[in-house]
Amino acid sequence: MAVFNALFWLATFFVLLDSTSAQKCWKDTTCSGPADTSFPGPWEANIFAPASRTVSPASILSNSGDFVSKFPGNSQLSGNGSILVFDFGIEVGGLVTLDYSTTGKGSIGLAFTESKNWIGEWSDSSNGGFKGPDGAIYSSFNTSGTYSYTMPDLRLRGGFRYLTLFLVTNGTTSVNITDIKLEIGFQPTWSNLKAYQGYFHSSDELLNRIWYGGAYTLQTNAVPPNTGRQVPFVVTGWANNGTLGPGDTIIVDGAKRDRAVWPGDMGIAVPSTFVSIGDLSSVKNALQVMYNYQNPTTGAFPEAGPPLLQQGSDTYHMWTMIGTYNYLLYSNDTTFLKENWSKYLLAMKFIYGKVGPSGLLNVTGLRDWARWQTGGNGSEPNMILYRTLLTGADLSIWAGDITGLNATWQTQAASLKTAINEYCWDLSYGAFRDNATDTTLHPQDANSMSILFDVVDTSVKAESISSNLLKNWTPIGAVTPELPGNISPFISSFEIQAHFTIGQTDRALDLIRRSWGWYINNPLGSESTVIEGYLQNGTFGYRSSRGYDYDASYVSHSHGWSSGPTSALTTYVLGLSITSPAGGTWQLAPQFGDLSSAEGGFTTSLGKFQAGWILSHNGYTLSYNVPKGTTGEVILPCLSAGKFPSITIDGRHVSSGPTAQLEGSSIVLNGAGGSHTVVVS
Ligand SMILES: *[C@@H]1O[C@H](CO)[C@@H](O)[C@H](O)[C@H]1NC(C)=O
Ligand SMILES: *[C@@H]1O[C@H](CO)[C@@H](O)[C@H](O)[C@H]1NC(C)=O
Ligand SMILES: *[C@@H]1O[C@H](CO)[C@@H](O)[C@H](O)[C@H]1NC(C)=O
Ligand SMILES: *[C@@H]1O[C@H](CO)[C@@H](O)[C@H](O)[C@H]1NC(C)=O
Ligand SMILES: *[C@@H]1O[C@H](CO)[C@@H](O)[C@H](O)[C@H]1NC(C)=O
Ligand SMILES: *[C@@H]1O[C@H](CO)[C@@H](O)[C@H](O)[C@H]1NC(C)=O
Ligand SMILES: *[C@@H]1O[C@H](CO)[C@@H](O)[C@H](O)[C@H]1NC(C)=O
Ligand SMILES: *[C@@H]1O[C@H](CO)[C@@H](O)[C@H](O)[C@H]1NC(C)=O
Ligand SMILES: *[C@@H]1O[C@H](CO)[C@@H](O)[C@H](O)[C@H]1NC(C)=O
Ligand SMILES: *[C@@H]1O[C@H](CO)[C@@H](O)[C@H](O)[C@H]1NC(C)=O
Ligand SMILES: *[C@@H]1O[C@H](CO)[C@@H](O)[C@H](O)[C@H]1NC(C)=O
Ligand SMILES: *[C@@H]1O[C@H](CO)[C@@H](O)[C@H](O)[C@H]1NC(C)=O
Repeated sequence: MAVFNALFWLATFFVLLDSTSAQKCWKDTTCSGPADTSFPGPWEANIFAPASRTVSPASILSNSGDFVSKFPGNSQLSGNGSILVFDFGIEVGGLVTLDYSTTGKGSIGLAFTESKNWIGEWSDSSNGGFKGPDGAIYSSFNTSGTYSYTMPDLRLRGGFRYLTLFLVTNGTTSVNITDIKLEIGFQPTWSNLKAYQGYFHSSDELLNRIWYGGAYTLQTNAVPPNTGRQVPFVVTGWANNGTLGPGDTIIVDGAKRDRAVWPGDMGIAVPSTFVSIGDLSSVKNALQVMYNYQNPTTGAFPEAGPPLLQQGSDTYHMWTMIGTYNYLLYSNDTTFLKENWSKYLLAMKFIYGKVGPSGLLNVTGLRDWARWQTGGNGSEPNMILYRTLLTGADLSIWAGDITGLNATWQTQAASLKTAINEYCWDLSYGAFRDNATDTTLHPQDANSMSILFDVVDTSVKAESISSNLLKNWTPIGAVTPELPGNISPFISSFEIQAHFTIGQTDRALDLIRRSWGWYINNPLGSESTVIEGYLQNGTFGYRSSRGYDYDASYVSHSHGWSSGPTSALTTYVLGLSITSPAGGTWQLAPQFGDLSSAEGGFTTSLGKFQAGWILSHNGYTLSYNVPKGTTGEVILPCLSAGKFPSITIDGRHVSSGPTAQLEGSSIVLNGAGGSHTVVVS
């Protein structure tokens, strides 16, 4: 009896343990992610991530893509070549388990695609880009009976929305699909995929969806480190068993592909990760692997993490350095900085050693994002070097440097700025040329970065660049002069920030709605993520204007480098950003555009940072709540330029003076930590 009782209690104990481990994470990964969101509220309805790590399709479509029924529904495959398409409704990724019963012998083919364009018996392309579609994988059965099939780990499919099932048989075999379950592979340390540490909610429903589409994309890009694309690429099919780096989770470029660490992509992806999901572990592991694979002799970082390990990119080298700054800014992980500092110094020596007598960087590591022309004294790498030097100066302070590096790198940045403005500015056109040589190409990347990184040396020139960038616009986005025929939401992520930086709010919002709005409303896309790139004529494809390049289906529909609106809407429209590690200091500088309200927030090791504004009939109310002990700068838009409005803070009247100064069309206030309400009328 006693033994029975003990067993009974033991069993109960394990049942209890098991129910707390509704805390289930990917395979044997420990759940170390947050249990729940930091900001509960109605905006959670905009989160695309599913409530569970195990999901089923939403609906069943015919071979031609027409809606048949909701899932579960009649799912019978009868006879050779019969097809059903299962639509998950959003981007997903992982390992599928099929339960089915059969009347005879045959096999079921499984094919995957992100875009509806490629539903059918061949998956969209993920393997190597040049080989065409990946084909299908098969579950075979020899006789009538019931079966359960789970895809092998090697064949994990990182990103798809549609699963096509088709029957291969010689006879009259039929199959009933009784269940389909997908075990989600991404964000492997999170038991609750909706546990966002940031949020954004505005009066514009389209912008809200775009913000959450960027956030969800970044979740699909945080992957188990043993699920990278195998290198060398397989010739047929696909294989995702590559080892990407340390830890339990790591940020890669795309869900379907490349499934590799790319530091340039992180230049956009990481700020957006910080304001939304708040997953810095994936970022740390990605940076660490770049340091681990630094060339110990030259100091060069690889262009991409292992197993790809492409080399020879000066720009991506610098993005690892800027990425180090971003990670430190968000995390204040000075242990990481100090332990890797000697490697950072070597990296700076490597890149600054390429600055020639004219003061410009002479680019010899030619690889870069997908732009065609690289090398020489290209404007874009020089803009990135300026950002590298200035962020390096801050890092030197945070690393406790006592050798004067802050002053050295600040001085080098200043002379670089002079050289860029002297040699690369095209006075007759009013924008930067693609390089210091005589070219008529005025690139989207360098010009956007010149404003965002504060390289352009007068506000008149900045206004001219902003206006000239509009010449690239079409109804569905900005065509990139340095990659003709293509629209790059990666480079457009810099462009929107450039317009916001100089207060051209309407232009930034217009471009977000044209480009990201076009994609998220496109029924042929994922309707839940941001795409790598697309063609000017509104078809899916990328970098194909020279005819030899990628299969159109190779494009990634869940690519974090295109998530710029997520950080931009928080940083510029809501207006909330941090200006020193973990938010010891911060800035609140809203831009209203054509919105009537916005609110949002994010989390650091110091706690929650939150703000919101709402327009009233005669002004606006701005409130914020940030950790006590922090300090910030509140920049209030004037109601009419040059005029000091009526301002109250927590009900007390504030008049013009040293702590509330009129600067152009804004009022600059010192902001205290804690919770405060500012009313402007
Ligand atoms: C079965 O259908 C496939 C196309 O789905 C076709 O290629 C194959 O030849 C067919 N096999 C038989 C035995 O009819
Ligand atoms: C499939 O389902 C139909 C309808 O429920 C049933 O008549 C048929 O026997 C099932 N076939 C198999 C192979 O389970
Ligand atoms: C169909 O028949 C051919 C020829 O007998 C055989 O090679 C093939 O394996 C069979 N396929 C299936 C799915 O049973
Ligand atoms: C089907 O039969 C073949 C040959 O007998 C065997 O190798 C295979 O394991 C069987 N497959 C299943 C799914 O039972
Ligand atoms: C990945 O799988 C292939 C076989 O497809 C194997 O040769 C390779 O060693 C595996 N790679 C890793 C890192 O496990
Ligand atoms: C970088 O810092 C981490 C501490 O966060 C340490 O574990 C790692 O060994 C350092 N890496 C290198 C390459 O020095
Ligand atoms: C730029 O680099 C190339 C290749 O290393 C070299 O030949 C050239 O002399 C360099 N030019 C300058 C101005 O440093
Ligand atoms: C641009 O680079 C070339 C060599 O790559 C160099 O000869 C030339 O002087 C550079 N121009 C400027 C303005 O630095
Ligand atoms: C300058 O840029 C143009 C346009 O991208 C390119 O055609 C040319 O080769 C570049 N020249 C140098 C020296 O890099
Ligand atoms: C870093 O250098 C800049 C420019 O010389 C200077 O304004 C700033 O005070 C320095 N910061 C520190 C902490 O030394
Ligand atoms: C769009 O442009 C691509 C690349 O030039 C071309 O291959 C494709 O046929 C075009 N599609 C349409 C619908 O115009
Ligand atoms: C950042 O880390 C440093 C060193 O550990 C510490 O002194 C400082 O207080 C931290 N800053 C914040 C804002 O937490």
